[in-house]
This record gives sequence, C-alpha cells and structure tokens, in this order.
Amino acid sequence: MPKEKLKTIYVCTQCGETSPRWLGRCPSCGAWNTMAEDVVAEPAKPSAGGARTAVRTPGQTSLQPLKLKNISTTEEKSRIVTGIQELDRVLGGGIVLGSVILIGGEPGIGKSTILLQLCGEVSGRRSVLYVTGEESVRQIKLRALRLGVPQENISLVADGDVDEICGLIEQTKPGLVVIDSIQTMRCTDIASSSGTVSQVKESTSRFLAVAKSLEIPIFIVGHVNKDGAIAGPKVMEHIVDTVLYFEGDKTLPYRVLRAVKNRYGSTNEIGMFDMTGKGLEQIDNPSQVMLEGRPVGISGTCVACVMEGTRPVLSEVQALAGKTAAPAPRRTASGFDYNRMYLLLAVLERRAGYDFSGRDVYVNIVGGLRLDETACDLPVCLAMASSLLDLPIDEKTVAIGEVGLGGEIRSVPHLETRLREAQRVGFTAAIVPRHNLKLLEAREFAGLKLIGVSYLREAVNAIKLKQ
Ligand code: TYD
Ligand code: MG
Repeated sequence: MPKEKLKTIYVCTQCGETSPRWLGRCPSCGAWNTMAEDVVAEPAKPSAGGARTAVRTPGQTSLQPLKLKNISTTEEKSRIVTGIQELDRVLGGGIVLGSVILIGGEPGIGKSTILLQLCGEVSGRRSVLYVTGEESVRQIKLRALRLGVPQENISLVADGDVDEICGLIEQTKPGLVVIDSIQTMRCTDIASSSGTVSQVKESTSRFLAVAKSLEIPIFIVGHVNKDGAIAGPKVMEHIVDTVLYFEGDKTLPYRVLRAVKNRYGSTNEIGMFDMTGKGLEQIDNPSQVMLEGRPVGISGTCVACVMEGTRPVLSEVQALAGKTAAPAPRRTASGFDYNRMYLLLAVLERRAGYDFSGRDVYVNIVGGLRLDETACDLPVCLAMASSLLDLPIDEKTVAIGEVGLGGEIRSVPHLETRLREAQRVGFTAAIVPRHNLKLLEAREFAGLKLIGVSYLREAVNAIKLKQ
C-alpha cells in the first residue's frame, strides 16, 4: 500500500473552511485572522486497479430500513433528570442517554465548575467518569471539596489520548462522562497537535461513536477563544447533539446558560446561575436579580419584559441623551441592536416630534442581557424620551410593545405571561399595545393597571400623566 503523505493546510477555526495557503480573511465565513495551520494526511492515490474495487454492485446493499411506526421511544426512561433545574430546562428536560453535549464558553467562565456540580448531582444514581486534560486530579479534588460534591461515585482520569479514553469508557461503562476539554484531547494517529481543527473534529466524532453505541451521555467542554489560536466549539457544532453556551460578563456574578442547538428540545430556554464562593447557584427569580439596585426617581430608565424561552424576565433599559460637543452626535447601544436604536430614534423624531439632533444618545441594557425582541422597542423609546424630557418614569411601571415606522404601537406575543411576571414582582402599571389589550380581561391582573396605547405619542403622554 502506498504510504500516506502529510501536508500542511490552513483551516478556519470559526467555520472549518480549508485552504492550501494562509489567508487573512476566511473566504467562507468572512472572519478575519482565523486561519490556523493544520497537518493532515493526504489520502494515498489509489492505483488504477484499486479505484475499481470501490464501485458498488448494482442492486445490492446491506442496509435495512425500519418502519417509523415500529421504532420504540422510551423517552421518559431515556433521560436523566440532573436535579439542577436550570440545566434540565435548557437541555429540554434532562440529559438524553447516548447524547453528546457540548458546553462552550470563554476560559474561566465556569464550565468545569458546573460540570463538576452536575457530576455530584448525578453520582447518587450513576457512576461518573471525569476526564481532564487541563488540570491535575489533585486540583479537581480540591475543587470538589470546595463545592461540597459527593465523591463516592466519581472517578477521575487526567489524560488526553482519545483512543485510551474511549477504551476506558467501553471497559468501565460509566453512567455519565465529562471530557474537559476537547482542545486538550488528541488522536495519536493524526499528525497535528491537539487543539487543531482536525484533532477537535476527529476526537469529537470518536466520542460520539462511543456515546451512541453504549448509550452513555458525554459532556464535552469546548473553550471559545477569540483570537482563533485554537479550534473553537464552532467546528464541532454540527457533530454533537446539543450545544450549550455558557455566557456572562466575568465582572458580573451571574452566568447564563443558553442552548444554541438541541436535537432533543427547544433552543429558546436559558438557565441562570450565580457564581458564588461555593460554586454556581441557580437563580430562581431572574427578574429580581436584573432589577436589583435600580435608581429611583431619575429620568431615562424604563423596565422591559423579555421572553427568554418560555420564561419572562424583567430587565431595565437605560438611555442618556445629552448635548453633544462634537459635530456628529455619538450614539451607542449596549445589549440592544444599534441599528434598531437608530430606527427608533427616527420614529421618535418624525412621528412623535422629539428632536434628538445635536444630542449624543446612549442606550444600555442593565445586567448584561441582550434584548433582541421587538417587545423591547417601546421601553427603549420611552427611556430615550424620558431622558430627553428629563421626565422620570414611575418605577413601578413596565412598558411592552413593538414600535412601527408609523409610530404605531403593535401587539406582541405572550403578553399575558409578561404581565403575570410584572404583577408577581409587584409592578402597578403596564403600558401595553391597545390591540393586545382587547384580548385580555383587565380584572385578571389585580393590582396591575393596564394602560393601552396605540401611538408612541400616547405612550409618552402616559408616562407624563403618571407624574
Ligand atoms: P472554571 O469552572 O474553572 O472555568 P472554565 O472551566 O470555564 O475555564 O471556573 C473558574 C472561575 O470560577 C474562577 O475564576 C473562579 C470561579 N469560581 C468561583 O467563583 N467559585 C467557585 O466555587 C469556583 C469553583 C470557581
Ligand atoms: Mg475548566
């Protein structure tokens, strides 16, 4: 057999595109500076006779299709409920047996911490294998002690050889496996070093094969690295069953776990955790956390209610419109779409008559959430108008509604769920689209006054009236 030749290629760490030359910008996904060097084995050129053997015989196959109706689903049995409710919800009701779950996130965000806590929860019922390629077993032991994780049923191994680890899984058949992290894993038969695209992809595929054949769920940690020096979770997203991202500002104590892909559940759900001295704690009441420390009686702040999956979360929108010294006013938005802010400013100017020319406008969503929903248009407009007029909005008022280009307030989905949340947290008034209001019965919301508005001007008048 001819020997395989090694060749150097360049692989985009964002999307996996390959190129024989180094490129500053990936031609496929357009990302800059993400092409990393990789060594792959060039497949040996088949000899003239060898190529023929690959041609199939017509009409022959070994595949056996199954009738859809004959395939059994024992859904209830095939999920492990972890006991960490925030995680269960994001996973779609627990860990599916045989699934491979990727947890991506920046280094230091808490991936190892949440997985060790998960191991602790599951270890009461199943044996757990924790594979670490980053830390020593002693370090994990110290962390486990700090987190108060039960240690009876958890085995540790510090290694990075994928085939050895797969062998160990096949031999010991644990009930749950954690691989921390994929960037430290290595298939010895592939020439490139660990962390390269080909290593990451191949290692993931091998773990996937073991997970499927033995029905063992495997969690894989994948570091997100902004400078693209190592292959990130993006290159393995299509291989695994579920992709979760662990996000959060490292300066803020809470973290958000978000499903980006889930073959066994919805991708809308988020889980919220608080990073404490004793590991991650679940946040049962996210609205309260988001609204903590809110300033009272100052202009330019308004409360919005966003749907994070099936859960409503109240969040504070802040705006500041100050006189500009520069020839072109400065506008920035953090946690809110920049172009959408421009659009809303144009609507406020043209349809409601508020003049923002010659003013810098800053919009900020407090607490690090990103508000992408149209239901947040109205609170953003009201916060900007409130800042311009220096008119504080009553702190117990929430605003919900989409703003159209005609300055009209349009209806939003799940209004009732949002209002229930506002009522629960103790809000006394809600500015909502009049269209939506017709479908709701006012008496259902005891203590919460519903103010229906059809136009932006009416909504601004409503906050003036509340003074
Ligand atoms: P870690 O899980 O090691 O991050 P990752 O695996 O994503 O790289 O988390 C590290 C950070 O979490 C570190 O900055 C310290 C903090 N931390 C706590 O605040 N409390 C704790 O109980 C633990 C274990 C970690
Ligand atoms: Mg870690």
